Amino acid sequence: MLHGDVGLELAARVVAAVKSSLDLDITPAEALIRPSNRPGADYQCNAAMGLGKRVGRPPREVAAAIAGALDGTDLFVEPEIAGPGFINLTLTDTWLSTQIEGLLGDERLGVPVTEHPRRIAIDYSSPNVAKEMHVGHIRSTIIGDALVRLLRFHGDEVIPHNHLGDWGTPFGMLIEHLVDEGVDADQSVSDLNVFYKEARKKFDAEPEFAERARQRVVKLQSGDEQTLALWSQLVDESMRHFMKAYKTLGIGLTPQDSYGESFYNPFLADTVAELEQKGLTEISDGALCVFPKGFFNREGDPLPLIVRKSDGGYGYMSTDLATVRYWTGDRAATDLLYVVGTPQAQHFAMVFAASRDAGWLTPEHHAVHVNFGSILGEDGKMFRTRSGDTVKLIDLLTEAVDRAATVVGERTDLTDAERASIAHAVGIGAVKYADLSSDREKDYVFSWEKMLATDGNTATYLQYANARTLSIIRKSGETVPPGAKVTLAEKAERDLALQLIQLPAAVQSAIDGYTPHKLATYLYETASAFTSFFEKCPVLKAEPEVRASRLVLCALTSKVLTRGLDLLGIEAPARL
Ligand code: ARG
Repeated sequence: MLHGDVGLELAARVVAAVKSSLDLDITPAEALIRPSNRPGADYQCNAAMGLGKRVGRPPREVAAAIAGALDGTDLFVEPEIAGPGFINLTLTDTWLSTQIEGLLGDERLGVPVTEHPRRIAIDYSSPNVAKEMHVGHIRSTIIGDALVRLLRFHGDEVIPHNHLGDWGTPFGMLIEHLVDEGVDADQSVSDLNVFYKEARKKFDAEPEFAERARQRVVKLQSGDEQTLALWSQLVDESMRHFMKAYKTLGIGLTPQDSYGESFYNPFLADTVAELEQKGLTEISDGALCVFPKGFFNREGDPLPLIVRKSDGGYGYMSTDLATVRYWTGDRAATDLLYVVGTPQAQHFAMVFAASRDAGWLTPEHHAVHVNFGSILGEDGKMFRTRSGDTVKLIDLLTEAVDRAATVVGERTDLTDAERASIAHAVGIGAVKYADLSSDREKDYVFSWEKMLATDGNTATYLQYANARTLSIIRKSGETVPPGAKVTLAEKAERDLALQLIQLPAAVQSAIDGYTPHKLATYLYETASAFTSFFEKCPVLKAEPEVRASRLVLCALTSKVLTRGLDLLGIEAPARL
């Protein structure tokens, strides 16, 4: 059985054919192999047009030369030339069926483990302490979690870290407010949004309180024990909230993954000293700054990264420079991913540029701002509650599960516990999939109706398709062990088979661009191929051999959908 993307195998054969027919060395990428949507062709090779220019011969002639030299043994039938010089490649039915037979027994469904694992530190979720998580953090949490799953499956070493906003000036007012409310008053911090707003109001209205708050910041930064104890109380309370949300969402982040801003505090002085030593800093308006090349404000003046404020304090920028230094230095990460909204694009570009100048990032490192757009309401504006407040994550998730419960309906054949667990899988799955199935860089519109629709590119549709495959298998009374012979006589069977062998390519493209939506699109196409198959090809009523073959297709479809959804962090219930 072939492991990996069949497109790569086709590319390798084109590379060899180009060498033998034109005596040219090209890379597998230059073979330009693409899945084809021409009837009768599975893949096409688009290389002849470019190569024609290179050798000064008509593309069709070049295509014919390559096609003539192509070795299709055991993989594809006689190639055809189409249009200006496309080479159409069609896999043999024998190869395709053998592949399907093999995949059923393969835990990894053909997806290879990378031969070049990387050590990846990924910053995601990263909410702020003493503020409730809102939908703004949901994207980071959901996208980050999917990337962790994908990269681990790929064979990389992944270290998640949650860059909690747990340090800095707001803690002065929060701690003073906690002192005023009574230190044991757990109640007072239970609604953190309210607590934060109250503190803020007092800070703005009462100069005496504001002064105390400022002094408290100094105490916090100088490590005063009583202050640190109060600070911990706030952090711990927030952590409990965050953990609850993660648990509901099925997100793997634990308290051990917390590397909040406070974690980097002890490294800040050294980080800044190193920048000074390397001659990268300048004083500007009393603050110590780095001016990485190529960043300007609207007036055309160079933009600073403030590494030490004029009052001697450190801020968000200094902390992020310390994250790069820590993760590439102390933790020897090769890759740094920051799953943070697009508005912080310039911040990260500047942090990376300064880190390269400081030598913390070398050409061997990959530092990527995995940015994402906003969630919009159906009115196209920022997503808010009907009363205009920001939507709290926990409320959103509760509503998702409640709505899913009505979609799942009054199924009488299920126990209450089963119904509740299905509603959870469907509701949370819908929210996650709506996010993951759209290109992360774009804004997306939050619509309950759309995300819970049983048709279209939704989690519910995929979950239904999976449950249907399993229901057919249950009804067959068989277990569909690997080993059954697969035949692909009907077009719908062959189309489904062709889809099922493409999980490796889909996983790889989702990883290459940190774009989970590429996997989502593939899963949707797979579920659609299954739907057509299901409509056209009876399974249980077919002749024994055909029935056995079709059961293999059902079983493999379920495995692919379940695995794919799992890589996105979405459950695939056996019944729906
Ligand atoms: N806490 C920040 C916020 O809510 C996000 C932090 C992102 N990570 C980072 N290393 N800056 O906007």
